Amino acid sequence: MSAVGEIPVVTIDGPSGSGKGTLARRIAAQLGFHLLDSGAIYRLTALAAARAGVALDAPAVVRVAETLDAQFLPDGSILLAGECVDGVLRTEQTGAMASQIAARPEVRAALFDRQKAFAQAPGLVADGRDMGTVVFPDAPAKIFLDASAEIRAERRYNQLIGNGFDAKLPALIAEIRERDQRDRTRAVAPLVPAADALVMDSSALSIETVEAQVMAFILTRGLNKAH
Ligand code: DC
Repeated sequence: MSAVGEIPVVTIDGPSGSGKGTLARRIAAQLGFHLLDSGAIYRLTALAAARAGVALDAPAVVRVAETLDAQFLPDGSILLAGECVDGVLRTEQTGAMASQIAARPEVRAALFDRQKAFAQAPGLVADGRDMGTVVFPDAPAKIFLDASAEIRAERRYNQLIGNGFDAKLPALIAEIRERDQRDRTRAVAPLVPAADALVMDSSALSIETVEAQVMAFILTRGLNKAH
């Protein structure tokens, strides 16, 4: 089986709201593999910088990235310097801050090894923007999941309203477009599908359909379930 340093890796890249996070969790559970939510690492770095009073464009953000004290617990919760930050990590504001620091090559370089270290037996499902192009370019199975900005904003809107938050659909569409533009056009590791990725548009598909098609693709790439 082809794999990254003998550890099989599945990469799932795409813009926020495409459903890649949910897909990655479900595929990792099906395969019995570990999960890397690389967006959370960028979000944690942005949050740590903000909490330390470091401006997002300051050189000191690189040091924040290098010394990030993050823990990913088996139950899915995430700690920053020992404190659970699950709620604040998922806000639109933290996402926008993460997108800004993620455009800086030195920050990406500082977080590279930390992401690579997630590749542990029996295997890894890595979710992000550049998992298949930069961090795990030799991964045997790569997926790029997209969806229209309107559909992604609508999903986010329903999620926010469902959780009792206030939200405005036009503002969400504008925010999503702005973040997409920055992530897709940055000079380093832009959001693009790897040449050998399975590209899917989830706009009109249920998560179950996407999952079934992706699992079928993964099995054709020689990866097997760990259990
Ligand atoms: O997937 P997410 O929304 O949690 O990611 C937040 C931001 O982090 C995203 O707008 C861009 C950045 N990011 C990145 O540049 N590379 C990754 N592999 C993952 C996220």
